[in-house]
Amino acid sequence: MTEQRKILVTSALPYANGSIHLGHMVETIQTDIWVRYQKMCGHNCIYVCADDAHGTAIMLRAEQMGISAEQQIAKVSAEHQADFNDFMIDFDNYHSTHSPENHELSSLIYQRLKANGHIAVRSVTQAFDPEKQLFLADRYVKGTCPKCKAADQYGDNCEACGATYSPMELINPVSAHSGATPVAKDSDHFFFTLPAFTDFLKEWTRAGHLQDEVANKLSEWLDSGLQEWDISRDAPYFGFEIPGEPGKYFYVWLDAPIGYMASFKNLCDRTDGLEFDDYWSKKSSAELYHFIGKDIINFHALFWPAMLNDADFRTPTKVCVHGFLTVDGKKMSKSRGTFINARTYLEHLDPEYLRYYYATKLTNSVDDLDLNLEDFVTKVNSDLVGKVVNIASRTAKFVANSGGELSSTVANPELWQLFTEKNAVIAEHYENREFSKAMREIMGLADAANEYIAEQAPWKLAKEEGKEQLVLDVCTMGVNCFMALMTYLKPVLPATAARAEAFLNLTLDWNTPRSFLGKHSLNAFKPLLTRVEGKQVDAMIEASKDEMPTTTSAAVEATKEASSDSWLSKEPIAAEINFDDFAKVDLRIALIANAEHVEGANKLLRLTLDLGGETRNVFAGIKSAYAPEDLIGKLTVMVANLQPRKMKFGMSEGMVLAAGPGKNELYILEPGAGAQPGMRVM
Ligand code: 2FM
Ligand code: ZN
Repeated sequence: MTEQRKILVTSALPYANGSIHLGHMVETIQTDIWVRYQKMCGHNCIYVCADDAHGTAIMLRAEQMGISAEQQIAKVSAEHQADFNDFMIDFDNYHSTHSPENHELSSLIYQRLKANGHIAVRSVTQAFDPEKQLFLADRYVKGTCPKCKAADQYGDNCEACGATYSPMELINPVSAHSGATPVAKDSDHFFFTLPAFTDFLKEWTRAGHLQDEVANKLSEWLDSGLQEWDISRDAPYFGFEIPGEPGKYFYVWLDAPIGYMASFKNLCDRTDGLEFDDYWSKKSSAELYHFIGKDIINFHALFWPAMLNDADFRTPTKVCVHGFLTVDGKKMSKSRGTFINARTYLEHLDPEYLRYYYATKLTNSVDDLDLNLEDFVTKVNSDLVGKVVNIASRTAKFVANSGGELSSTVANPELWQLFTEKNAVIAEHYENREFSKAMREIMGLADAANEYIAEQAPWKLAKEEGKEQLVLDVCTMGVNCFMALMTYLKPVLPATAARAEAFLNLTLDWNTPRSFLGKHSLNAFKPLLTRVEGKQVDAMIEASKDEMPTTTSAAVEATKEASSDSWLSKEPIAAEINFDDFAKVDLRIALIANAEHVEGANKLLRLTLDLGGETRNVFAGIKSAYAPEDLIGKLTVMVANLQPRKMKFGMSEGMVLAAGPGKNELYILEPGAGAQPGMRVM
């Protein structure tokens, strides 16, 4: 028996202002498989997570919805937890960064950094929205690029020419929140003096805590010189006020990773014998693993270890970085229906299919991972149903026919030896996060078992006189192979493994396949996993398309995709049209007579539009931007002669016009005074 390890594991904390999608699930599935494997080996492994609840985006989202930030984050947290739970992500605790534990720990860490002389105060000039009385992050200022004059660019860089600048350099800058012209305003900011940790970080990043490719990337930054890190934001801000500095708040990224500690602390406070210091003090012998995506490496492998070290806490054992998800080889896209929310997936498909498919693709590199939908169907059916489950379904009934007890004869010792020997190899792959290699080994074993069963053909032997014992021996061999395969797959397929355990009449732990099951009674065999049908996948893609936002923002989205696929293509998105083409569009003033939520739709509102006598039912993707009650009674502009479109929730008879960068920021068009429902827009 190897020594019991104490391991604390985290996945990145999802923001409390959006839904969980299949990109998030790469990480939580990867982490969950690793944690379940450790637990199966008998280690003391604890997995914590939380919602990342602070920041301007969350504050403004709540304001838009007409609820408090606390209500907003509670609602999202419940959704996130339901999604993770239904994907069988087995957290030991799921907390929030907006918690007393996090408040206390963030303040403590800040005070220690300050006492060590590592907090500097400097005045910073920033864009300020005079209407909303709010400092504006770069992406909340839009205007014309000072270099190439492209309109509608964000405040930090131009998507058309790639120029970088500060928001106040934009020509005609506007605040995305209010449309007001921002002014430049000074205020004091607090900085963590990261450059003081350059030597520490040069050593730490090369001490085996990171994948080589990650350490190499960080070397480039370390060599070009670290910058001080701005850790404060001015009120109004949804977060924790900095101790002794009224009106100044911790930047969301300061308290986010401390949320890992806070979630664990919350668990300690209600678990006997679990001590915070055993895991977080500098003397801790426990291991600490953070699973993250490659976009947030600097926060976890530079700022975080430096902060922890300076505040007298231990640093991570490993920061495990994965790549991004692509679907059918491309970035996830709403217009293609491949931006798939966790909930939409769950409405159509079994979570274990995705857990397995991701496992076949996951390695310990930062390479992106592709969800190829055709391959997904093929792999699930041929590997899980065709190879693994098939072994049990082809042999179980013969064991049942002979009384339900296995024989003690190992009918094929070489085959059994192969199954037991592979235990160590597969274990090593799990430990090293080489899940795709583990899955290949497991499927290799499944092939060997199927070959054996096909050669022996117990269904033929069963028809021959006097072969009863041989049939039982062969099927016992088959059941043992199945037992080993399900053991090796248990971290990936917890629900199927539980059904297999019920049939096998035992609990599978990592060492179970070291002994052969003979003279052991089985329970009745019940179906373990059903085939996936291509049409289920099609329906999921359709459902993901149904929730498309309005055409305006879909067009904006298309520009973004085009520019990231190839930033060289500068064609305008829409082809030029002549006046006759334009005249075909019947634009009318419409009164929003009613607006309501649509059950089961994340983005749509159902609008009843009055065209001056005639009413229309229209589904509009503006739920993230408007509460229904804010729309009722407003006049807007609609396309009145758009062919009715059948959507998941009913017929949509037209379209309302809205402008904005998309996502949560959309503004419906409103006519000037005097306009009446039904008037033609020219
Ligand atoms: O990138 C994100 O989605 C962040 N919410 C991750 C935070 S991870 C940790 F530091 F809290
Ligand atoms: Zn430009």
